[in-house]
Amino acid sequence: MQRRATITGWGKCAPPVKLTNADLEQLIETSHDWIVERTGIEARGITHVEVTDMAEVAAMHALAAAGLEPADIDLLIVASVTPEITCPSNACFLQERIGAVNAAAFDLNAACSGWVYGTASASSMIESGIAERVLLVGAEKLHYVMDYWDRSTCILFGDGAGAAVFEASTSGDGVLSNDLGADGVAGKTMVFPTLGTRGELQQRDPHIDRLHFEGQAVFKLAVKGMEGSVRRALERAGLSLDDVDLVIPHQANQRIIEAAARRLEVPMDKVMVNIAEHGNTAAASIPMAMTDAVAQGRLFPGAVVVQTAFGGGVTWGSSVMRWGDRVTPLATSDAELPPTDLTVFDLLAPNRAFFAPVHESS
Ligand code: UT7
Repeated sequence: MQRRATITGWGKCAPPVKLTNADLEQLIETSHDWIVERTGIEARGITHVEVTDMAEVAAMHALAAAGLEPADIDLLIVASVTPEITCPSNACFLQERIGAVNAAAFDLNAACSGWVYGTASASSMIESGIAERVLLVGAEKLHYVMDYWDRSTCILFGDGAGAAVFEASTSGDGVLSNDLGADGVAGKTMVFPTLGTRGELQQRDPHIDRLHFEGQAVFKLAVKGMEGSVRRALERAGLSLDDVDLVIPHQANQRIIEAAARRLEVPMDKVMVNIAEHGNTAAASIPMAMTDAVAQGRLFPGAVVVQTAFGGGVTWGSSVMRWGDRVTPLATSDAELPPTDLTVFDLLAPNRAFFAPVHESS
């Protein structure tokens, strides 16, 4: 049987400090009802630590679930649009942190599509024999770039990390197909100029280093982009939408997910949604949702799973996989983030101060 890459471990890291809609009501002119109706989001994680800290927790859970040690990994990929610094990569930071001494390591930036680009990279590296065991992590500190005076963007995004271990399998399970695409012309609809999220915002220009986001344009591109990509990936796998047991979409907006599902004629009971608790965590959203899906018993041996995403660039992609036998972790890890006494308002204070001049002058 063909050599494929199958997921044998999974894990996530959700920051303990939450930004609820009620908290946002204290910062901007908005309401819990408006946000829930337009996005499905009720809360988002706001990290008090760095990207590598969240990546480490998710990675340790995924490794434990797979019954592996860090030294068993031979390729480590971190998908992130919010890396700590440019070089060394987040992947090299994580390699050092967990002691994945035998792993090659690189970062990948395809914004919210980072996880599906990472899945395609992991699976093709395993299929070609370049790698045997890949640790893929999506990790984001998105609150860093959010302007918490701008109600059109700051309600959407949150922080977090998710991870999976991919191993070679010749049992018929694993990634069956990938579809990737990009359109640089449409890229101007979502621009995020800041690079490097370590520490607090400083020595930057708040007029420039803020997310530019054309919400409605992105909404339409996302729905069409994910629909087309899912159809192409399924065709490549020789499967139809009727064969699909679970779709795990990028968690951008409940309405985007519902619109894409409607166009694909997939019932919502076959779609994994956990956006209410986490918001849009970019490259981390699919592995966080996948980890929740396994915990909820929504994945079973042989299940056909479609992952699909759309994001900045603009980029899109989907993967189709047949889930393997593992639906319970081989072991568990007690890895967790250090506790904090800081409130969500403490954590957002630097952003509010940094971006205030943009709003004073407008
Ligand atoms: O990973 C891919 C990334 N993409 C995404 O995350 C999704 C992109 N787009 C969206 O999610 C949606 O377009 C938004 C949630 C950003 C906005 O929803 P919408 O239904 O497209 O609203 P809208 O922009 O058409 O705004 C409708 C009204 C406006 O008021 P007026 O002009 O009609 O008086 C906005 O000013 O709602 C107002 N509004 C708000 N009201 C309360 C915008 N943001 C808010 C808010 N609270 N937070």
